[in-house]
Amino acid sequence: MAGPAPEALKGEDWAGEMGARWLASLDRFEGMIAPIGAALLARAEYHAGERVLDLGCGGGATTLAIAERVGPQGAALGLDVAPMLIERARHRASAAASSARFVCADAATAHLDTPPFDRLFSRFGSMFFDAPVPAFANLKTMLKPGARIDLAVWANPRDNLWMMEVMGVARRHVEIPPAVPRAPGPFAFEDLGYLEEVLTGAGFGSMDVTAYEGLQPIGGPGTSPVAATDFVLAAMAVGRVLDEAGADVRDAARADLIALFTDRHIEGEGVMMGAKAWLVRANV
Ligand SMILES: C[S@@+](CC[C@H](N)C(=O)[O-])C[C@H]1O[C@@H](n2cnc3c(N)ncnc32)[C@H](O)[C@@H]1O
Repeated sequence: MAGPAPEALKGEDWAGEMGARWLASLDRFEGMIAPIGAALLARAEYHAGERVLDLGCGGGATTLAIAERVGPQGAALGLDVAPMLIERARHRASAAASSARFVCADAATAHLDTPPFDRLFSRFGSMFFDAPVPAFANLKTMLKPGARIDLAVWANPRDNLWMMEVMGVARRHVEIPPAVPRAPGPFAFEDLGYLEEVLTGAGFGSMDVTAYEGLQPIGGPGTSPVAATDFVLAAMAVGRVLDEAGADVRDAARADLIALFTDRHIEGEGVMMGAKAWLVRANV
């Protein structure tokens, strides 16, 4: 078994490597989490005229959807730390003649030169702060009194078989240390008690949560087992660890992933694996 450094999966450099990986597979990532975005948008029930901030907007798909809902009297502003994703989001907005606007900045410290927002939205863009309490307190300064936030965050990895089973395969080939609870990363807020502590500490209240559970298409709808495998290896952090372990290890893991995904493939739908997220609402 090859042994990468224990910190191999630590840290997510969104303004650099992770942002570039997300951009290179943007359609596949967005296709994979589209059902969760749709559920969060439905729960948020935006109305014409509202001003909405989209935290960690990535390539801006949800910001564009929000802009349509709030219309020309409202505002949809995407905020993201990754310059390459903001550039893509701006291109998309201009191609779609959308009123969505985008700012590239670290949400933990940014000061926006805009009027305050009625609402904050985030599909998986809120879990990466090194110090979440001051970061959310900073976001609160961008919101009106009484403003509402809607976040989608991943629930426990045990309930996210798309991650558990992929990591299980990778661990047959390379050593990957267990995730550190509460550390910045996709599962930082799996524990709702901790998220409530963070939100309360930052001055938010009335937290209300519903669970989203469903099957998620790995690499987007209709993806074949081979294409889903190549997506995981190219786009997810675990791919880098396998790359660093050398071609033999990577090829062996690739074969095992293809076998796993062939087992989970549903004709006409893609490689479908269980996913669970928390849809979280709170107020300033
Ligand atoms: C998992 S992606 C989700 C992207 C987008 N919300 C979507 O659903 O398509 C996480 C996003 O959060 C952004 N992000 C991470 N840390 C951030 C920070 N401190 N400030 C602003 N954006 C951040 C990343 O650059 C990335 O675009």
